[in-house]
Amino acid sequence: MAISFRKSLPVILMFSAAIAFYALSEIYERNKEKADIPSLITSDYEGIVRGRKIFDSKCRFCHDAYSTETLVGPGLKGILKRERLPVSNRPSTPENILRQLRQPVDRMPAFEYLSEEETSDILAFLYGL
Ligand code: HEC
Repeated sequence: MAISFRKSLPVILMFSAAIAFYALSEIYERNKEKADIPSLITSDYEGIVRGRKIFDSKCRFCHDAYSTETLVGPGLKGILKRERLPVSNRPSTPENILRQLRQPVDRMPAFEYLSEEETSDILAFLYGL
Protein backbone atom coordinates (compact mmCIF):
# COMPACT_ATOMS: atom_id res chain seq x y z
CA MET A 1 0.00 0.00 0.00
CA ALA A 2 1.66 3.15 -1.24
CA ILE A 3 1.05 6.28 0.79
CA SER A 4 1.36 9.31 -1.44
CA PHE A 5 3.60 12.16 -0.38
CA ARG A 6 0.71 14.61 -0.78
CA LYS A 7 -1.41 12.64 1.66
CA SER A 8 1.31 12.25 4.25
CA LEU A 9 2.43 15.88 4.06
CA PRO A 10 -0.09 17.18 6.65
CA VAL A 11 0.98 14.44 9.05
CA ILE A 12 4.66 15.34 8.57
CA LEU A 13 3.86 19.02 9.10
CA MET A 14 1.89 18.36 12.25
CA PHE A 15 4.61 16.12 13.58
CA SER A 16 7.27 18.80 12.93
CA ALA A 17 5.11 21.44 14.55
CA ALA A 18 4.71 19.27 17.64
CA ILE A 19 8.48 18.76 17.90
CA ALA A 20 9.11 22.50 17.43
CA PHE A 21 6.51 23.30 20.08
CA TYR A 22 8.08 20.83 22.50
CA ALA A 23 11.59 22.25 21.90
CA LEU A 24 10.41 25.84 22.39
CA SER A 25 8.59 25.04 25.62
CA GLU A 26 11.73 23.27 26.93
CA ILE A 27 13.83 26.37 26.15
CA TYR A 28 11.21 28.58 27.80
CA GLU A 29 11.16 26.45 30.97
CA ARG A 30 14.96 26.45 31.25
CA ASN A 31 15.20 30.22 30.80
CA LYS A 32 12.46 30.73 33.34
CA GLU A 33 14.51 28.78 35.90
CA LYS A 34 17.51 30.98 35.14
CA ALA A 35 15.40 34.12 35.38
CA ASP A 36 14.37 33.18 38.93
CA ILE A 37 17.97 33.44 40.19
CA PRO A 38 18.58 37.16 39.55
CA SER A 39 15.33 37.99 41.36
CA LEU A 40 17.21 36.99 44.53
CA ILE A 41 20.17 39.20 43.57
CA THR A 42 19.70 42.64 42.01
CA SER A 43 21.74 42.62 38.83
CA ASP A 44 22.10 46.32 38.00
CA TYR A 45 24.78 48.71 39.17
CA GLU A 46 22.32 50.87 41.16
CA GLY A 47 21.35 47.76 43.13
CA ILE A 48 24.97 47.21 44.17
CA VAL A 49 25.26 50.85 45.26
CA ARG A 50 22.03 50.61 47.28
CA GLY A 51 23.24 47.31 48.74
CA ARG A 52 26.48 48.90 49.86
CA LYS A 53 24.59 51.70 51.61
CA ILE A 54 22.36 49.21 53.44
CA PHE A 55 25.43 47.15 54.35
CA ASP A 56 27.19 50.25 55.72
CA SER A 57 24.24 51.22 57.88
CA LYS A 58 23.22 47.75 59.10
CA CYS A 59 26.07 45.25 58.85
CA ARG A 60 29.35 47.08 58.82
CA PHE A 61 29.89 47.55 62.56
CA CYS A 62 29.86 43.76 62.95
CA HIS A 63 31.27 42.64 59.58
CA ASP A 64 34.33 43.79 57.64
CA ALA A 65 33.42 43.53 53.95
CA TYR A 66 37.01 43.76 52.75
CA SER A 67 38.79 41.12 54.82
CA THR A 68 38.09 37.80 56.51
CA GLU A 69 38.97 39.23 59.96
CA THR A 70 36.29 38.84 62.61
CA LEU A 71 34.86 41.99 64.15
CA VAL A 72 31.76 40.75 65.96
CA GLY A 73 30.82 38.46 63.07
CA PRO A 74 33.13 37.00 60.41
CA GLY A 75 34.70 39.17 57.68
CA LEU A 76 32.70 38.77 54.48
CA LYS A 77 35.32 39.31 51.75
CA GLY A 78 34.57 36.94 48.86
CA ILE A 79 31.71 35.43 50.85
CA LEU A 80 29.84 34.17 47.78
CA LYS A 81 33.04 32.85 46.17
CA ARG A 82 33.72 30.51 49.09
CA GLU A 83 32.55 26.92 49.29
CA ARG A 84 30.96 27.27 52.72
CA LEU A 85 29.62 29.98 55.00
CA PRO A 86 32.07 30.58 57.85
CA VAL A 87 29.95 29.86 60.93
CA SER A 88 27.08 27.60 59.91
CA ASN A 89 29.25 25.74 57.38
CA ARG A 90 26.27 25.70 54.99
CA PRO A 91 27.04 25.96 51.25
CA SER A 92 27.76 29.59 50.40
CA THR A 93 24.69 30.45 48.32
CA PRO A 94 22.45 33.54 48.14
CA GLU A 95 19.64 31.40 49.62
CA ASN A 96 21.67 30.53 52.71
CA ILE A 97 22.75 34.13 53.27
CA LEU A 98 19.11 35.16 53.02
CA ARG A 99 18.35 32.47 55.57
CA GLN A 100 21.02 33.93 57.88
CA LEU A 101 19.30 37.34 57.64
CA ARG A 102 15.87 35.88 58.43
CA GLN A 103 16.93 33.25 60.98
CA PRO A 104 20.53 33.74 62.15
CA VAL A 105 22.36 30.64 63.33
CA ASP A 106 23.53 32.10 66.64
CA ARG A 107 24.09 35.61 68.08
CA MET A 108 23.51 37.77 65.02
CA PRO A 109 20.32 39.87 65.19
CA ALA A 110 17.62 38.90 62.67
CA PHE A 111 16.83 41.22 59.78
CA GLU A 112 13.42 39.86 58.89
CA TYR A 113 12.07 43.41 58.44
CA LEU A 114 14.23 44.00 55.33
CA SER A 115 12.18 43.96 52.12
CA GLU A 116 12.91 41.54 49.30
CA GLU A 117 14.33 44.43 47.29
CA GLU A 118 16.68 45.39 50.11
CA THR A 119 17.96 41.84 50.62
CA SER A 120 18.46 41.50 46.84
CA ASP A 121 20.53 44.69 46.91
CA ILE A 122 22.62 43.46 49.89
CA LEU A 123 23.23 40.18 48.06
CA ALA A 124 24.29 42.12 44.95
CA PHE A 125 26.85 43.99 47.06
CA LEU A 126 28.09 40.79 48.76
CA TYR A 127 28.31 39.07 45.36
CA GLY A 128 30.93 41.57 44.24
CA LEU A 129 33.17 41.23 47.30
C1 HEC B 1 25.37 42.86 65.95
C2 HEC B 1 26.35 42.31 65.05
C3 HEC B 1 25.90 41.85 63.68
C4 HEC B 1 25.23 42.57 62.70
C5 HEC B 1 24.66 43.96 62.78
C6 HEC B 1 25.18 41.69 61.52
N1 HEC B 1 25.79 40.49 61.79
FE1 HEC B 1 26.06 38.98 60.48
N2 HEC B 1 26.89 37.85 61.94
C7 HEC B 1 27.12 38.27 63.25
C8 HEC B 1 27.60 37.15 64.04
C9 HEC B 1 27.93 37.17 65.51
C10 HEC B 1 27.67 36.03 63.15
C11 HEC B 1 28.04 34.59 63.47
C12 HEC B 1 26.79 33.69 63.36
C13 HEC B 1 25.62 34.12 64.23
O1 HEC B 1 25.83 34.56 65.38
O2 HEC B 1 24.47 34.01 63.74
C14 HEC B 1 27.25 36.53 61.84
C15 HEC B 1 27.23 35.76 60.69
C16 HEC B 1 26.95 36.24 59.42
C17 HEC B 1 27.13 35.50 58.20
C18 HEC B 1 27.67 34.09 58.08
C19 HEC B 1 26.55 33.12 58.38
C20 HEC B 1 26.96 31.66 58.30
O3 HEC B 1 26.06 30.88 57.96
O4 HEC B 1 28.12 31.31 58.56
C21 HEC B 1 26.70 36.29 57.19
C22 HEC B 1 26.67 35.96 55.70
C23 HEC B 1 26.27 37.55 57.77
N3 HEC B 1 26.44 37.47 59.14
C24 HEC B 1 25.76 38.62 57.06
C25 HEC B 1 25.28 39.77 57.65
C26 HEC B 1 24.64 40.85 56.92
C27 HEC B 1 24.45 40.88 55.41
C28 HEC B 1 24.28 41.80 57.83
C29 HEC B 1 23.56 43.10 57.61
C30 HEC B 1 22.22 43.01 57.06
C31 HEC B 1 24.73 41.33 59.14
N4 HEC B 1 25.31 40.10 58.98
C32 HEC B 1 24.59 42.06 60.32
C33 HEC B 1 26.91 39.54 63.75
C34 HEC B 1 26.24 40.56 63.09
